Amino acid sequence: MKTLLIVYHTMTDGTRQMAEAAADAARGQQGVEVIVKRAADTGPDDVLAADGYLFATPENLAAIAGIMKDFFDRCYYPALDRLNGRPYATMICAGSDGQNALRQVERIATGWRLNPVAPGLIVCTHAQTPEQILATKRIPAQDLARCAELGEGLAAGLALGVF
Ligand SMILES: Cc1cc2nc3c(=O)[nH]c(=O)nc-3n(C[C@H](O)[C@H](O)[C@H](O)COP(=O)(O)O)c2cc1C
Repeated sequence: MKTLLIVYHTMTDGTRQMAEAAADAARGQQGVEVIVKRAADTGPDDVLAADGYLFATPENLAAIAGIMKDFFDRCYYPALDRLNGRPYATMICAGSDGQNALRQVERIATGWRLNPVAPGLIVCTHAQTPEQILATKRIPAQDLARCAELGEGLAAGLALGVF
């Protein structure tokens, strides 16, 4: 049995919907236990116990969300040199960009010597005004389908041991 850990943070629910879509699809694969945890509740033991990772975060102020950064800050050194080669992928929920948050996750994952097994996935919610940015998001079905495909692929690769 392999374990896929999906770590996410959300403020206006978009990233949670993306993480749940990926998790639901990943659960369709036999031989993989899927754990979904909020970044604030995730620690080094959770990271060490998993075989693969899906990191999901909003882009806030051209960076990963602060609570996602806090997760990496707390877990980075306890897990360093103990995750080498494990597979991971990244999902970003952004208003209109998302590239810098994706780059940040990729840099941290490179430090951990994780193995990127899929291109980073960015969903833009097209929120522009303060009211739109602060409103609860509803991620469209076609974007949730992209998240599901990523979760399914990660889980399938873990189950088959191809990564
Ligand atoms: C303080 C703040 C800063 C933001 N900065 C960016 C940004 O730099 N680039 C971007 O594309 N979206 C930005 N956004 C928009 C969010 O990424 C977008 O609302 C996204 O849906 C948040 O994900 P969530 O629904 O999971 O919280 C920002 C939102 C907030 C609240």
